[in-house]
Amino acid sequence: MGYENIRVETRGKVGLITLDRPSALNALNSALIDELNTALSGFETDERIGCTVITGSEKAFAAGADIKEMGSLDYMEAYLSDFITSWEQVSRTRKPVIAAVAGYALGGGCELAMMCDFIIAADTAKFGQPEITLGVMPGAGGTQRLTRFVGKSKAMDMCLTGRMMEAEEAERCGLVSRVVPADELLEEALKAAEKIADFSLPIAMMTKESVNRAYETTMSEGIRFERRVFHSMFATEDQKEGMSAFAEKRKPQFNNK
Ligand code: CAA
Repeated sequence: MGYENIRVETRGKVGLITLDRPSALNALNSALIDELNTALSGFETDERIGCTVITGSEKAFAAGADIKEMGSLDYMEAYLSDFITSWEQVSRTRKPVIAAVAGYALGGGCELAMMCDFIIAADTAKFGQPEITLGVMPGAGGTQRLTRFVGKSKAMDMCLTGRMMEAEEAERCGLVSRVVPADELLEEALKAAEKIADFSLPIAMMTKESVNRAYETTMSEGIRFERRVFHSMFATEDQKEGMSAFAEKRKPQFNNK
């Protein structure tokens, strides 16, 4: 498929999606989201791919939902089309996805980054949920994911004042996993993705599923889930290979079985 709002590449075992709508600071309109979903589905089913990186430009990861496209929506159109629900495909991907964020990640852009498994931020990154300034509130998970990631007080502060937070604050409060110099962002994100993609894909997928359980259930149920999945890993060839390789002092050759 020809993409107009994103660029899609593979780098070895890594899928790279670059949001590319510079005239609107990568604002997320329906065409961009459709393309993003198509690219994500392609990487999900591509056996060669073990991890995906989503990034934007130096100036903006994404400046939110497209305000000009969304501005004239009425309630019934929003309700009947289930506006926003199709954006959540990234949160349903089973393979790991990393957000590499430079510049603005605002509104739906911040929410898209939070749907990824973790965020690596450039020192230029700015996160915010400014929807209240537009007479709405976050609608792509911001009130829920941000609160789980940074706690109630900071989530309330961000959503109620609409202020932006810099990369350093975002790392301090746990929104991002690490901050790197802007000119090293893509390289660092790809390095992390390659590392993940070199491990056993099913084990990485099960690990992701298990960490995500922490956000969906109680501690005891989460631990029970983890234990069951952990036990099941002893039925894989990759567990035998990983542990034999350690004992034999060699690099493991995982074959996703
Ligand atoms: N939607 C549509 N267009 C947008 C946009 C958005 N979210 N953000 C920026 N643009 C457009 C601007 O309209 C402008 O286009 P024109 O040149 O045609 O006028 C172009 O991108 C460049 O933007 P600016 O001139 O404003 O650039 P700046 O450097 O002066 O400011 C900014 C940058 C502070 C990010 C500013 O653009 C801004 O505040 N953008 C809106 C951010 C926002 O409110 N996001 C939340 C959207 S609502 C949402 O996301 C709902 C949800 O939860 C799903």
